[in-house]
Amino acid sequence: MCEEIKVTLTDCPKQKPDEDHLVFGHTFTDHMFEMDWDKENGWHDARIVPFAPITLSPACNCFHYGQETFEGMKAYRCEDGSIRLFRPEENFKRMNNSNDRLSMPQLDVDFCLKALKKLIEIDADWVPHKKDTSLYIRPFMIGTEPSLGAHTSNQYKFLIILSPVGAYYATGLSPVKIYVEHDYVRAVRGGTGFAKCGGNYAASMKAQDIAEAEGFSQVLWLDGVERKYVEEVGAMNVFFVIGGEVVTPALQGSILPGITRKSVIELLRSWGVKVTERRVAAEELVEAYKEGRFTEMFGSGTAAVISPVGLLRYGDTDMVLSDGKIGELSQKLYDALTGIQWGRAEDPFGWSVKVL
Ligand code: PLP
Ligand code: COI
Repeated sequence: MCEEIKVTLTDCPKQKPDEDHLVFGHTFTDHMFEMDWDKENGWHDARIVPFAPITLSPACNCFHYGQETFEGMKAYRCEDGSIRLFRPEENFKRMNNSNDRLSMPQLDVDFCLKALKKLIEIDADWVPHKKDTSLYIRPFMIGTEPSLGAHTSNQYKFLIILSPVGAYYATGLSPVKIYVEHDYVRAVRGGTGFAKCGGNYAASMKAQDIAEAEGFSQVLWLDGVERKYVEEVGAMNVFFVIGGEVVTPALQGSILPGITRKSVIELLRSWGVKVTERRVAAEELVEAYKEGRFTEMFGSGTAAVISPVGLLRYGDTDMVLSDGKIGELSQKLYDALTGIQWGRAEDPFGWSVKVL
């Protein structure tokens, strides 16, 4: 494992984007972290370099067989002037689970955290100041062996790039419209659904495109076997309020174990709110809606934070939730979570990690 991180600073810093008009993931900071892996040397050549295109052989494994994993996290500029991360070790641990599933090498979690902190220190001026903005962090790993044999790559690259962002959805905290996707599936148990890998997202683009063309933000996936139980949304886990109880689909291998999901469950339980992780049939939601018991729904994710769902469509049934407005629990969770993330509230869980 490499210990040293070599730093080469840019000699032409870029102009920072207008914080009032940040589009998610469109602009990148001045620097990036990069390191390489091969069988003989393990991880080596850890370096922070100016953000720039990388040169790869067109025969690299990642282009043909998709050995790619990634993470999504954020750095927040807090009111006391500090810059903080939210549960960052959870992301690198999850990345190791994804790497294991895709037969890719493990990362040293502490070293990755050290590299990330150093990168953020160097690009600290890029962490935006405006309310609800943050610096989105995208660690990712790719198989780089230039060989067309369909086997595990013997060479990899790990990179971290940074992007100042505003809200993920153009609508901000406003409620989104989602429909339950019946024709296409995203993942099955035994597949890669629980891993954060590009292939899962590639498989979801077609349904996403159709949803957007029809005026919906994303689709709610059904399980890939019976197409009966709801799983998660394109970039978020989901929660339902049914009969006053909070319910979320159980993690059974086909859903991404979201760090925001885990935090929401822990927050709710700390407030004494009952949360049940179980299978939830789409039909159950329709029935509960007709009986007036399914009253609120929201998604959770790093990019999306807490995203209220104002309308859920299943077949011919349109379920209008919380009168199409931001639900009470969604707002309370949004305030609590963002309070901890931006250092506006106490952090009794020790989730917030100071960088600077
Ligand atoms: N599910 C999917 C498919 C996602 O892409 C994301 C985003 O990362 C999530 C759930 C939420 O995960 P997290 O809360 O760790 O960001
Ligand atoms: C995140 O929330 O960090 C994600 O990775 C979702 C991504 C598809 C934007």
